[in-house]
Amino acid sequence: METIILDGKALAKTIKAELREEVERIKGNAGKIPHLCAVLVGDNPASRSYVRNKVRSCEECGFKSTLIEKSTQITQPQLLKIIDDLNRDEDIDGFIVQLPLPAHIDEETITLAIDPKKDVDGFHPVNFGRMALGLPAYLPATPNGILEILKRYNIETSGKNCVVIGRSNIVGKPMNILLGRKGYPGNCTVTLTHSRTQNIKEEILRADIIIAAIGRANFITSDMVKDGAVIIDVGINRVDDVTASRGYRLKGDVDYDNVLAKASHITPVPGGVGPMTVASLLINTLKASKNEIYD
Ligand code: GUN
Repeated sequence: METIILDGKALAKTIKAELREEVERIKGNAGKIPHLCAVLVGDNPASRSYVRNKVRSCEECGFKSTLIEKSTQITQPQLLKIIDDLNRDEDIDGFIVQLPLPAHIDEETITLAIDPKKDVDGFHPVNFGRMALGLPAYLPATPNGILEILKRYNIETSGKNCVVIGRSNIVGKPMNILLGRKGYPGNCTVTLTHSRTQNIKEEILRADIIIAAIGRANFITSDMVKDGAVIIDVGINRVDDVTASRGYRLKGDVDYDNVLAKASHITPVPGGVGPMTVASLLINTLKASKNEIYD
């Protein structure tokens, strides 16, 4: 059977067009135009690229956006002051502090300082807890983007064995919760695997749905994949390549070329999960501007 390529780039474009239409309607009714702020600390090239993408996507959808850039030398109290100002700024519906932060800044302290009502990344424990309990919450962008892919491609999830590889707070842990929840997409039997999992190959071989989020290029090889599996590749790994114009190439966690024939559905890298992450952030920002999650 022909493998279906899950085209996150095209889906994100569709979602952005829908958002743009919604913003036009809001403008016509003199309503609140969604406004996202991104805080970028330091000069991590991947973070820069992600944040630039988020700001550009806001423009594409007619959202307002603000970018606050600070040097690596910023102190934690200074960053906390910026967050406090953003919490109080009535025009800003949601904001994100791009991770990772420099080593002298405690990410947990920063995340806790963000008002959950404006936490469109869904990283605050209040949002994470609400998500886990099935209450209205901002869902973290990458997991929500994956749910959108499953939904919009009508992929059956009920009763399926889903193996999540990687237990990060941003992807693995929330994915484990979301796919195990009641409803669609969900009702999966989820196995959360990680660096200490014994016989990880055997675990992955049982999967009807594989969520690969470990950050290691080509980790999932074809001998680990059951015929007909749905493969969602969250990895965005920079691999040195002298023939590439930038000196590197983006590789997923899945050995795409060799796994392709076995998969029923697969996300490419780039152009799979990545663009959906940005689309999800915009969806959350729109919800924030309409007070849909919190009054
Ligand atoms: N770093 C990697 N992914 C993300 C994300 O979704 N949000 C933030 N704030 N930082 C990240």
